[in-house]
Amino acid sequence: MTDWVAACAEGDIDEEDVMRFDHAGRTFAIYRSPDDEYFATDGLCTHEKVHLADGLVMDEIIECPKHNGRFNYKTGAARGAPVCVNLATYPVKVEGGQVYIGL
Ligand code: FES
Repeated sequence: MTDWVAACAEGDIDEEDVMRFDHAGRTFAIYRSPDDEYFATDGLCTHEKVHLADGLVMDEIIECPKHNGRFNYKTGAARGAPVCVNLATYPVKVEGGQVYIGL
């Protein structure tokens, strides 16, 4: 069963931006797309475990701040060297002005 965890308030993240969210010893990245939708992935790059929330969001891509590897944050797909392992993604819902991720 999905455990919905409140991650932030709607509007805490600018459009086309990302925020770090730590929960129960794990770290996640919460994204707000240019189309005002929210997405969630694991927070650490699959290359060398750098926080992706320090990276750059462009359209549906998150670019890692360390070696500029890229992922599609909507699907988790690795999109550019040196990353070759996909990111885990998580369902997101927005209710009552709150953004929840499903774990
Ligand atoms: S740590 Fe992310 S691309 Fe190397």
